[in-house]
Formats: sequence, structure tokens, C-alpha cells
Amino acid sequence: MTQSPLLPYFDFILAMLSQENRAVETCFGRHVHFGYWSNPKEAGADEGDYARAAERLTRELCEAGSIASGESVLDAGCGFGGTLTHLNENYRNMRLVGINLESRQLDRARRLVHAMPDNRLEFHHGDACALPFADASFDRVLAVECVFHFPSREQFLREAFRVLKPGGTLALSDFLPARLFRPLAVAATEAPMLARFQYFGRCNLGYTAATYRSVASQIGYEPVLARNVTRNVLPTYQHLKHLLAGAAAIEGITGPIVRFMDALRFLSGAGLLNYYVVGLRKPAPKSG
Ligand SMILES: C[S@@+](CC[C@H](N)C(=O)[O-])C[C@H]1O[C@@H](n2cnc3c(N)ncnc32)[C@H](O)[C@@H]1O
Repeated sequence: MTQSPLLPYFDFILAMLSQENRAVETCFGRHVHFGYWSNPKEAGADEGDYARAAERLTRELCEAGSIASGESVLDAGCGFGGTLTHLNENYRNMRLVGINLESRQLDRARRLVHAMPDNRLEFHHGDACALPFADASFDRVLAVECVFHFPSREQFLREAFRVLKPGGTLALSDFLPARLFRPLAVAATEAPMLARFQYFGRCNLGYTAATYRSVASQIGYEPVLARNVTRNVLPTYQHLKHLLAGAAAIEGITGPIVRFMDALRFLSGAGLLNYYVVGLRKPAPKSG
């Protein structure tokens, strides 16, 4: 079994949830991902606004994956099960399966998420790059804001392709650097002087939109969509800063993390570090 990734932001979130921190519960008790604002200028400052935006990003991913009732869906890197909760609440006759490398998150998911009478729900402990599922066993695979933590994006794309049925789709969201910024983004995530920002754990920013296209096509996927939604997720940074400011200082690193958020916000606003929704299809056999 691959070791759990060291993601100190989950230590923080879980500690705040156990202290019944209302703001963290509202923003990250269900989804642990960025929000999506159709009109970023209308983003509010309260936690309810963030929770609605996080739900909206989930919906964008489900639409990118063309999910419909009656299907089997694997959610890789399922966090607290928020995406599966959304599917459980909005779709019928589903087989919903989550996999995560971190058992504390799975414990919370198992405690809080219960299948609707006509849905089936399972949570598995495991690595998204070594999926413990049979070939062609899912109609859809989702990976919401997690592939940059995985040991290898290519290995995950291959595994998702293997477990998808022909004609099935993979939808994911990911942070992708602009081509010219990529060398700097990779160097920055590996620089020892930035080790204090390992608060977010291992992050690989080595894939650009072009890398996705080329690796996915080598594996056999057909492209469905690659949407740069950076401007729709930008209000997230303000919310994160606000939350951090309101929470107890985290082992003296709150200040640097807030400055790090400012840097990420700047790079995103400048088009150097982008947030993408990517959709890929495993081709169906040609008839006739
Ligand atoms: C930013 S969180 C996103 C969680 C969830 N997808 C959501 O949208 O709420 C990243 C997730 O990836 C999971 N993760 C990291 N590496 C993983 C791996 N190799 N296999 C499975 N899950 C992994 C983490 O435990 C965490 O739950």
C-alpha cells in the first residue's frame, strides 16, 4: 500500500472540524476544493457564498463528465465524499465509489454520507494510481482538484482509462502552469527554501494543457474539453485568506501562507498559473 500523502492542510481542517469551527465546517466540511463563480465580480465575502461556489465547481465537474442517472461513478481522491454526496443527492440508481489515500478523511465520509435508497455507495482506502477495480467497471471517473498530489498523473490517466468502460469519460480539475512559466513552477515546488509551504503537501505543477493533450492521446483518450476557468475560481483566494486570518495561528506559518496565497492569486491573475476543467473520453468501439 502506498503511504498516505503528507497534507498538513488536512491536519488543520480536521483539527478545526473537531473544534466545531463553524466557518471551516461551512467552507470545507463537505468539499475541500476551490469554488466556482459564474460571475466572479458578484462573489460575496461570507462562508455561505463559498459553500455555494464549492458546490458549483462540483456541478461543473459532473457536467464535464456528462454524468447521468443510472451510471457507475468512481471519485478518485474523494476527500470527505463531497462530490459523491452531490451525486447521491441529485442522481438516481447510481453506483457511487470513492477512493482516497487518507483514512481520516474516509472515516468522516463514511460517518456522514449515506446512500439514498436507490443508490449504492462505497468508500475504499487506496491509491488512485493503483486502482483496486476491474477493467471497464465504471461509466465515469472524476478527480476533483487532486491529481497534482498523485505520485504520477500519467499513471492515474492510465488507470482511469483501464477502469472506464468504452465510451466512458474522465473529468478532472487541475492547476496548470502557462508553458513559459512551467520551468519556474516546477523549480518552485522543488526548492528547499520553499519547504515551509509543504503545508499543501506534495504538489506537482509539471503538466501544461499541452502535456495533458499529448499524454492523454498516447494513452488512447479522445479530448472532450479543456476549459481554463481561472477567472471563475479567483475569489477563492480572498476566502482562504479570510478563513486563515480568523483561525488560530498554525504553528507560526499563518503569515507566510497568507503571503503565499497572495503570490498564487497574482500568478493566477497574470495567467501564469491556471485552473482547468479537463474532460477525456475512452473511445467506444466503432460499430459496423
Ligand atoms: C484538495 S483535496 C480534494 C478532495 C476532494 N476531491 C474534494 O473535491 O473535496 C485532495 C485529495 O486528494 C487525496 N489524495 C492525494 N493523493 C492521493 C492518491 N495518491 N490517491 C488517492 N487520493 C489521494 C487527498 O487525500 C485529498 O483527499
